Amino acid sequence: MEKLIITGKTPLKGEVTISGAKNAAVAILPATLLINGVCTIENLPNISDVKLYCNILETLGAKIEWKSEHEITIDTRNITSNKAPLETTRKFRASYYLIGSLLGRCKAAQVGIPGGCNLGNRPIDQHIKGFESLGAVVEVENGNINAKAKKLVGNSIYMDVVSVGATINVILASVLAEGITTIDNAAKEPHIVDLANFLNTMGADIRGAGTDVIKIRGVKELKGNATYSIVPDQIEAGTFMCAAIATKGDIVIKNCITKHLESITAKIEELGGNVDANGDHLRVWYTKRPTKVNIKTLPYPGFPTDLQPQMGVVLSTAQGTSIINESIWESRFQYTAELNKMGAHITAQGKTAIFEGVDSLLGAPVTATDLRAGAALIIAGIAAKGQTEVYNLSHIDRGYENIEEKFRKLGAKIQRVDE
Ligand code: EPU
Repeated sequence: MEKLIITGKTPLKGEVTISGAKNAAVAILPATLLINGVCTIENLPNISDVKLYCNILETLGAKIEWKSEHEITIDTRNITSNKAPLETTRKFRASYYLIGSLLGRCKAAQVGIPGGCNLGNRPIDQHIKGFESLGAVVEVENGNINAKAKKLVGNSIYMDVVSVGATINVILASVLAEGITTIDNAAKEPHIVDLANFLNTMGADIRGAGTDVIKIRGVKELKGNATYSIVPDQIEAGTFMCAAIATKGDIVIKNCITKHLESITAKIEELGGNVDANGDHLRVWYTKRPTKVNIKTLPYPGFPTDLQPQMGVVLSTAQGTSIINESIWESRFQYTAELNKMGAHITAQGKTAIFEGVDSLLGAPVTATDLRAGAALIIAGIAAKGQTEVYNLSHIDRGYENIEEKFRKLGAKIQRVDE
């Protein structure tokens, strides 16, 4: 079993370059199934979820050639199956995008009920409602989702909740449908805009991505024959912003879209920290103890739930008592029990956690309960006095490229060992 050993109390200093966005990559890869041609994708993050997705696409008949560590060409002219490998798709959440893309391409899809991080109940009723509005019949049987349609016809779909996954899945299913699909109360996250830009580059007609009304005019075919570069990862950039403040460091974050980081920038400034945005660079620094702030997670452009645990580490040593209200996932405070093992004083109940700031965290053995919790525990280990061991690294490897290497370059004393 692998673990990270971190010797802490190191202020991070230097530069870090952000990789392509995980949550855009895991939407764009299945979107290639809608193309009857070849495309090139650049700036792919080198993470295990991307490798898993490429394997799935190959089992469906796609031909993938790795041009470099971050660039592939995909030939999707000969898709031979609409049945995704069930065991693999059950392993991660974003496999549900295969339903929308296979339905769009083949008018039929069979996918295992998606797994992924345990963040509480993760229903897909809005995805199913969207597919059904377009004319599909969807059945959930023996742990699998079966969807089929004689034809898909555009419709108006109102999302009862703002859902990233359902918005993306309806876009995927409607790109090749007849007529116009309108999604009202759509999610506005940067990776939704990135998916729409990718599909439009390949020949789709999608308008309004990034607002809460998206219109998709169905086209006959996506020809591909184009190159697309994935947007930088907003959450990875925010993770390093939190790391700079938690460790009392001073770092420059390169290759980020500062507009995507406004909510986290506002919170860092509110707690006393400094953020200087300059083109695609961001300098973040603070050598003092942060003051308390309250946070409520919200869909974009609100404060992202995927940065809540990393910010929780900052607040665990802030001056005073901070409150985080988690409005997206019911079980996203599992990391607080791990931080308490490191001397934090956090009381989490339901969707609220109260952080009574302590002077310093103390190293301890801790376990990553999910992807972002894992990133938070690494930050905590670098900020804490003494030695921290972080277990359950597979969660972290799903979504962060070379995480320990990036932290090591910033001065962290961190190594991966296989016990
Ligand atoms: N929801 C429903 N019904 C649905 C879909 C969602 O009630 O049919 C509810 C969920 O229970 C949740 C809320 O709507 O309370 C938002 O869920 P959403 O569908 O937006 O989440 P998701 O698509 O499953 C994506 C990211 C998550 C991120 C959330 C929120 C991917 C692959 N995953 O999940 O990322 O937390 O959006 O921003 O894009 C992560 O990267 O660590 C991660 C968990």
